[in-house]
Amino acid sequence: MKCKTFFITGAAGFIGSNLAHSLASKGNTVIIYDKLTYAGNLASLEGVPPDKFIFVHGDICNTSLVSETLHNHKVDSVFHLAAESHVDRSIDGPSAFIETNINGTFSLLSAFRAYYESLDETRKQDFRFLHISTDEVYGSLGDDGYFTEDTAYAPNSPYSASKAASDHLVRAWFHTYGFPVLTTNCSNNYGPRQFPEKLIPLVIHNALAGEPLPIYGDGKNVRDWLYVEDHCCALHTVMQKGVIGETYNIGGNCERQNIQIVKSICSILDKMRPKADGFSYENQITFVKDRPGHDRRYAIDASKIKRELGWEPQETFESGIHKTVEWYLDNSKWVDDILNGNYRCERLGLGGTQG
Ligand code: NAD
Ligand code: DAU
Repeated sequence: MKCKTFFITGAAGFIGSNLAHSLASKGNTVIIYDKLTYAGNLASLEGVPPDKFIFVHGDICNTSLVSETLHNHKVDSVFHLAAESHVDRSIDGPSAFIETNINGTFSLLSAFRAYYESLDETRKQDFRFLHISTDEVYGSLGDDGYFTEDTAYAPNSPYSASKAASDHLVRAWFHTYGFPVLTTNCSNNYGPRQFPEKLIPLVIHNALAGEPLPIYGDGKNVRDWLYVEDHCCALHTVMQKGVIGETYNIGGNCERQNIQIVKSICSILDKMRPKADGFSYENQITFVKDRPGHDRRYAIDASKIKRELGWEPQETFESGIHKTVEWYLDNSKWVDDILNGNYRCERLGLGGTQG
């Protein structure tokens, strides 16, 4: 497969940085375009070969900077991941979600469409705009059933509503302008380099710090978990083989209640880093007030991407969660850097200090 120049928005964040590592390791060049909000950190890009990435510090709402970057680096295709991504933050302060997830996606579509129109026919044929979205746009399931690509949208949080709006914009750019888009809707990711506000890294961090492990409500809400490298592999597959204008659901077929997740992490930590007092980390579990509008269950039917594009996840939950806990135990420096925002950019050959 020919190596390409990919523009990745949000590539200093969790999934974007894992994708940057993965694409660069296959010989591609990645343009990392990121605003570096609290969730983005250059520490997450350490290890990407310096000759394979270019970092541009920018907001996706800045159409002129996006356009300039596209032309300067002769971008072949884009993975759009930049977003405000945390449901709890969207409840406390929805405006940043509207600005980045909706207006930012609109700005990007405008800049990219103009760029696409300027390309010659051969490069136009190969160009793709892959919009990375979430299963949360489909709302909440009862005890049975799965989200398919045909499930009606029913977002319940400001976060999921803003992602749903961005999905609709992307769809409209295909139908109205013939702009070559692809959309993916994925379930909950976990793995290395996830900001410790999301359930799994938060629980690992709090357990080791001797702090409470907060479980919302009765702890029986269900999520469908996918190891982040499997998601990145699915995204590359969709970029290479996906049919323009189509949507692909991505999930791990791995439903777990939140309480099961937290107990699994405690049990792994009990073995890998036993507490000095001999007690289990489970003693730190604390049930707290539920999240407002908390969706009960998510579960993805990923049969379309499996059948049509041949993608399969490689990790089971058991193998993936072991790798994840191990990564956090080995990378406490990364956690300090990301929580304190004091990463030394010169370690990446860039000037200054982030934060
Ligand atoms: P994240 O919060 O870890 O990272 C988001 C990145 O976007 C950060 O680097 C941040 O600095 C950057 N960013 C935010 N606003 C920006 C702006 N205005 N301009 C430029 N950069 C900006 O998010 P994540 O968990 O890696 O999620 C990435 C994408 O995948 C999101 O679009 C999210 O909706 C989607 N998604 C996430 C999951 C999941 O479980 N994490 C599952 C399905 C889909
Ligand atoms: O489904 C995909 C979505 O998964 C992505 O689109 C989002 O960007 C991503 O943040 C994630 O959303 P969730 O709200 O499902 O993830 P979170 O890690 O915040 O919560 C997972 C579950 O754990 C959820 O039911 C809420 C619960 N929870 C979360 C936290 C942070 C707790 O019980 N305690 C907590 O402290």
